[in-house]
Amino acid sequence: MPLTMVVGAQWGDEGKGKVVDLLAEEHDLVARCAGGPNAGHTVVIAGQTYVVHLLPTGALRPGKVLALGSGVVIDLDALFGEIAELEGRGLEVESRLAIDPRAHLILPYHRLLERADEERTQGGRIGTTGRGIGPAYAMKAARSGIRVVDLLVPDRLRDQVAMIHAEVRARIGEAAIEAAGPDAEPGAVSAHLLAAAGRLAPRVTDVSVLLTRALAAKERVLVEGAQGTLLDLDHGTYPYVTSSSTIAGGALTGLGLGPHVVSRVMAVAKAYLTRVGRGPFPTELEPAAAAALRDLGAEFGATTGRPRRCGWLDLVGLRRAVRISGCQTLAVTKLDVLDQMAKIPVCVRYAADPRGEWWAETELADARPIYRELPGWQTSTRGARSLADLPPAARDYLTMIAEETGVPVELASVGSGREETVACGGPAAIDGRGGHPGESLRAVSSAGRAPAF
Ligand code: IMP
Ligand code: MG
Repeated sequence: MPLTMVVGAQWGDEGKGKVVDLLAEEHDLVARCAGGPNAGHTVVIAGQTYVVHLLPTGALRPGKVLALGSGVVIDLDALFGEIAELEGRGLEVESRLAIDPRAHLILPYHRLLERADEERTQGGRIGTTGRGIGPAYAMKAARSGIRVVDLLVPDRLRDQVAMIHAEVRARIGEAAIEAAGPDAEPGAVSAHLLAAAGRLAPRVTDVSVLLTRALAAKERVLVEGAQGTLLDLDHGTYPYVTSSSTIAGGALTGLGLGPHVVSRVMAVAKAYLTRVGRGPFPTELEPAAAAALRDLGAEFGATTGRPRRCGWLDLVGLRRAVRISGCQTLAVTKLDVLDQMAKIPVCVRYAADPRGEWWAETELADARPIYRELPGWQTSTRGARSLADLPPAARDYLTMIAEETGVPVELASVGSGREETVACGGPAAIDGRGGHPGESLRAVSSAGRAPAF
């Protein structure tokens, strides 16, 4: 049963969009399993830039079936806006879309709650994307959320909206909810949702059933993770995390599938590291050096435009991401951003822990990274299309990542274009099987190795 999962191995923005777009070619269905319009997946096709937030990146490949699983939170305005934008650019999207009836909806009240929280804490505790994601998931867990299926029963929906309105008014105050204007009136919110119901109804499909039947019919399914492992609600740098599960295990929940259907899990990692929003970041560069790397890598948020914090690759975090999602293969992106560096530091462990693990306490204790410096290659990799085209030091860098994580690097990205990709598979695959003698962190055996890209 060919199901491939792509998960982010860092704090999001690893370049999953490009990788999913590449892999989508050889799949029939592309499914989002978690998150909402907080994501920003950027793909460059023939010099044209596309950014999708809520739709699966497979939307950019004509003919692919697109699914939003029950784990996704949906903002209908964002969804219709994105469909309109892509259809305006000549891509048929809506007729390909399947939306799970159990997916929760993001309401204007969720954004109001989030804004109130940010204001109360002066600029925000977490530095969220402001899309109402956290409050929507919080209400889901508190069992007061609204699901897609609820749009089909108008009277019940009106009651649910009125209850949420009352709850939010109690939390943020009469004045704050009035300041939001007539659009936040429960009647207006219900009417707006119900007006969308007719359009949505033909798209509503049980995604668990859809994918199970597709797999049984030997169709190929690609699961597009959003955000990254270190933003996972359970396993990330809590509380500086998103409100959903971003790992392979969570993807199964968010789609309604069992683990036996997964044939490969690919982790996507940038050749260095970035994070948007607040929270620990042990390998973060000081401001001037961070600004230089940010400019080279164009590291500004695709969803909020915020400058991303920048630092060096953290192998401790990467090994952890590979372990948590059981990743069998890696895609290393933005290798070209390091092209001109004379030396490239990578964090191999933290001072407090010789075993090279990332413990929960590591985040609290302001961990001090121990770096290994690798020689740079100081030549452009943009034109490389095979391993043989890469300068030896760039190849060594990828080999080091494979050895340190214990999994092969299946592809490397050397530019934002679809074609700017190095396929590392085949007999010369950069392979993590060798490892370093004496090191204990070979979490992933070679037994489950995936077919080469
Ligand atoms: P939220 O997901 O909007 O609640 O934001 C929570 C944290 O996750 C913030 O630090 C955000 O910057 C971060 N975040 C959420 N989505 C993404 C993403 O797609 N890429 C990078 N960071 C993200
Ligand atoms: Mg992004």
